[in-house]
Amino acid sequence: TQDLYLFFHGLPLPKIVHSEESLEDFRKFKVQNDDIFVISYPKSGTTWMQEIIPLLLNGGDLTPVESIPNWERVPWLEETRAVLFLDKLSAPRTMVSHMPYPLMPPTFSSSKAKAIYIARNPKDVLVSSFYFHQMASFLDDPGTFEEFMDKFLAGQVLFGKWTDHVKSWRNTDLGDRIFYITYEELIQDLRGALERMLRFLGRQMSEEALDRVTEHCLFKNMKKNNMSNYSLVPQEVMDSSKSHFLRKGIAGDWKNHFSPELEDKFNAVIQKELEGSGINFPWD
Ligand code: PPS
Repeated sequence: TQDLYLFFHGLPLPKIVHSEESLEDFRKFKVQNDDIFVISYPKSGTTWMQEIIPLLLNGGDLTPVESIPNWERVPWLEETRAVLFLDKLSAPRTMVSHMPYPLMPPTFSSSKAKAIYIARNPKDVLVSSFYFHQMASFLDDPGTFEEFMDKFLAGQVLFGKWTDHVKSWRNTDLGDRIFYITYEELIQDLRGALERMLRFLGRQMSEEALDRVTEHCLFKNMKKNNMSNYSLVPQEVMDSSKSHFLRKGIAGDWKNHFSPELEDKFNAVIQKELEGSGINFPWD
């Protein structure tokens, strides 16, 4: 673990894309008022939003999402590669971050920048992450599903505890600068979710363009887009013989992985940690 991760305020982050320097740059980042941040706990729909947001902002022109890799199109602000891409972004800049709210750059809350927070059923987050750990050489071996679940519940995983993340972003002083959406809502009614995000971003789009974007962002179509399906990453880094980054793309795959005992254990911990947070557990 020591070799693969560095610790930032106690959170394990993979060294392959994070360094002391990138994290220092992250904290010093000067947020602009028209910046847009997609915020997520890992495996909650980040890649999906890296596809959606540029299309909502550009009127549904598919050119950028079909020619620029997602990590360059909507870069992770805390990663080492951010410096390579940030200067190339035109306003409004769109970036992603997996950071909990208190660790965001101080200029974020004092700006007028907007944030879209995407959350996903933590049971599906766990399943998705389990497979990701099997295929990504820069993450530690997850062990059995139950072992990995214990680590997840203890927060000994990338970016720490899921409950800490969602709670930190639920209780902010951002007011109407933050928009909350879930992975499950995108699955249920993608077009409707796109319309709501358009409104939040203060943009409009023709019905025809909205149809095109909706179709393009369906799992089966995004999976074919080499700029978004991580097929550009070498096999030694992500082994597609073990699993795929765009793996299954459904809500409820946890039902194929949790025994009743594991479900009880998981629910007990998560429900206790969400108590009093105002977050009800709308999933299942
Ligand atoms: S990461 O590593 O944090 O950037 O991962 P992230 O992109 O947040 O999460 C990956 C999961 O999102 C699924 N995904 C999608 N689902 C449905 N439709 C679309 N278009 C889509 N794009 C990405 C992806 O398949 C991962 O979930 P699982 O359950 O593993 O399939």
